[in-house]
Amino acid sequence: MSQSRFAAIILAAGSGTRMKSAIPKVMHSIAGRPMITHLLDALYPLTPAATVVVIGPQMEIVARIVAPAESIVQDPPLGTGDAVRTGLRALGDRLAPLGDIDELLVLYGDTPFLTTATLSHLLEERRRASAAILVSGMRPVDPSAYGRLVLADDGTLEHIVEAADATAEEQAIGLVNGGIMMIEARHLGELLDAVDTDNAKGEVYLTDIVGLARRKQLRCRTVELPAEELLGINTRIELAEAEALMQRRLRRAAMESGVTMVAPETVFLCVDTRLGRDVIIEPNVTFGPGVTVEDGARICSFSYLEGAVVGPAARVGPFARLRPGAVLEEDVHVGNFVEIKAARLGAGAKANHLSYLGDSEVGSGTNIGAGTITCNYDGVNKFRTIIGEHAFIGSNTALVAPVSVGDGAIVAAGSVITRDVPADALSIARGLQVDKPGRAAEIWRRLQRKK
Ligand code: UD1
Ligand code: CA
Repeated sequence: MSQSRFAAIILAAGSGTRMKSAIPKVMHSIAGRPMITHLLDALYPLTPAATVVVIGPQMEIVARIVAPAESIVQDPPLGTGDAVRTGLRALGDRLAPLGDIDELLVLYGDTPFLTTATLSHLLEERRRASAAILVSGMRPVDPSAYGRLVLADDGTLEHIVEAADATAEEQAIGLVNGGIMMIEARHLGELLDAVDTDNAKGEVYLTDIVGLARRKQLRCRTVELPAEELLGINTRIELAEAEALMQRRLRRAAMESGVTMVAPETVFLCVDTRLGRDVIIEPNVTFGPGVTVEDGARICSFSYLEGAVVGPAARVGPFARLRPGAVLEEDVHVGNFVEIKAARLGAGAKANHLSYLGDSEVGSGTNIGAGTITCNYDGVNKFRTIIGEHAFIGSNTALVAPVSVGDGAIVAAGSVITRDVPADALSIARGLQVDKPGRAAEIWRRLQRKK
């Protein structure tokens, strides 16, 4: 048989009431990425013939984030079965005739831990068993909120009963619906048409198609998977638990690939954080999205990095902040209370204390003295500061952009630089010092007399 083609329908139209949020549930992030994006990332390597995301009204933000996958609005959300029906309509428009497709993969937008390997395994299992419907099963520690899988004596799937509709006996079943369903395309429309709303929630349950299929003598099966992978996120508490679980996975993967973490449980990563070999991460470091740290670099405690590249053997922190567009080349040192934004520091450059470098370039080997500030913003526009190689910027210098400092130049401490400094020049831009011999002693005497 030629490889069967499948389309994916992802359900994300539910209001996510239990999150008590103004933003759609699937937009809540885990390790720096919205839940729905985690799911799409797991799905795409399997190259579905089409992917449709079913969203609710006023969820344009979800449509934007899932693009180029198509989205369709389900209004009002009448239940998961109705959502799949809505998704099928979009697919029918797109893949006419739908006969192109052999099977449909239905996923719930709130299960971010699914992996490509699992999805691929389930697709193979359905084909191997020639089941009309295959449902993922799991045994979570607390099964109470999930639909229970009722099995026949031969171990095949008989029907699914939702938590709200389960009898005491059914509630005692530990095997539950993990939320992934693979359905043979030719049966789906007919099965969905037969689903009613005669249940506790008055919704069109997708899960009812299992019992209906059995009545038509169609084979239904379940494959049990580790509960961790199928965790559904419905509340902020589950979101926090999911975050913790994802962080553990990411830290473990980083350490396995050669990163040292002194106190891994205090380091927070994003899914896209890239850490090279022999990188050392001290306790209490946070990585926002888009960070790459190259081999041998050290990130010291209490640093916060996002959208930044840290070059080989560079050193960041303690207490440093790297904002988007910060690029540190090899062996750069960025020390305590230094903030870098949209700035490139050339190899071996140092900014060790109390500085702000924004919209700037710093040449290799240049030293930025304590308290140096690039004044990049006039309240309306941003301007650039360009500093050459092997220059020296004295402490407490204000560089009023747009401005440049040439190679090898020295800027005296306390300067306010408003004009370009030529290469190899010494620039001093501060009030001149006046010394009045003996005056201090005189002042002290006068003050004491007053007492
Ligand atoms: C659902 C399953 C349950 C399973 C559990 C796994 C049904 C009826 N129940 O329950 O068997 O154990 O997931 O996590 O399917 N959605 C829509 N449109 C709707 C309703 C829901 O798109 O009209 C979406 C939601 O946004 C969500 C997904 O479908 O992403 C699941 O809905 P949710 O309300 O979370 O279902 P559960 O009660 O968790
Ligand atoms: Ca759910």
